[in-house]
Amino acid sequence: MQHKKRSQIIAGLDVGASATKAVLIKESRVVSQYLAETTDSISSAKRVLSVLVSSVKNGSKIQKVAVSGGGSRIIGKQLLGFPVERVDEIIANGYGGLFLSRKNQGIIVSIGTGTSIVAAYEGGRKIVHLGGTGVGGGTILGLARRMLDVNNFKILENMALKGDINRVDLTVGDVVGGSIGIIPADATASNLAKLCVETSQEDVAAGIFNLVSQVVGVVSAMAAKSCGLENDVIFVGRLAKSPLVSRIVLETVNIFGLKAIVPEKCEYCTASGAAVYVLGGLANEH
Ligand SMILES: Nc1ncnc2c1ncn2[C@@H]1O[C@H](COP(=O)(O)OP(=O)(O)OP(=O)(O)O)[C@@H](O)[C@H]1O
Ligand SMILES: [Mg+2]
Repeated sequence: MQHKKRSQIIAGLDVGASATKAVLIKESRVVSQYLAETTDSISSAKRVLSVLVSSVKNGSKIQKVAVSGGGSRIIGKQLLGFPVERVDEIIANGYGGLFLSRKNQGIIVSIGTGTSIVAAYEGGRKIVHLGGTGVGGGTILGLARRMLDVNNFKILENMALKGDINRVDLTVGDVVGGSIGIIPADATASNLAKLCVETSQEDVAAGIFNLVSQVVGVVSAMAAKSCGLENDVIFVGRLAKSPLVSRIVLETVNIFGLKAIVPEKCEYCTASGAAVYVLGGLANEH
């Protein structure tokens, strides 16, 4: 990357289904970040950008605003007077995952409202969309709203932390009396199989978190194995920020022998990746 380009200040915006995230990148470093719930795409994008602009001394010197995420499609050529460049979300996730993890290759699993999986190679020179699953953070909130009448993520996570998963899920040990193949006795044989009318609110919450986190873990493990990227699994997205979700996801992929990480600022992966892409890529950074 040329020195001139690297010294530019680029804003990266990720207008997601649930939250809009923004970062300012200068000299290949995140110097500021901000997150707000998405209301409508354009006003959310304007709001997070104006917070960023006023958060740093040279905020008004932003050269470009890189926008990504589902809601970025309707953002025009300018935002608050700054020129806008739209970056495909798959590309942004690939670049962002490598940037945050400082890796040269990896499977980037973005656990957001839904879950998307991207393979990135050679510092982002090759990025492949592998697919994903509709099971994600939206699934946790939707099930909890209906089953528990709770809509707040943190309240829900605290309930789940108090719950006992053994009263909700059927384990491999429950079914066969021990381990089976590579799967240990305490692994889940059937999510939510023990649910009944007497199940406590906390146990239901634990079951919902386990269901979503284990599905994400298993799908990620299969994807990583199919690409030979077992040692380079990178979990990002706001849901990966949840200590409970990241613990279960990492435990799940460990069963399959994967090496996985959750980088700091994982919720800013798409926003950072969009900015890094516009800045000219990662290739010379590694
Ligand atoms: N404080 C929190 N900590 C961790 N996870 C949270 C928190 N608040 C909400 N979530 C979860 O994060 C999910 C949204 O994640 P994220 O913001 O990464 O998705 P998105 O980018 O809006 O959606 P997508 O990428 O699927 O379009 C919510 O569905 C919710 O389950
Ligand atoms: Mg997202």
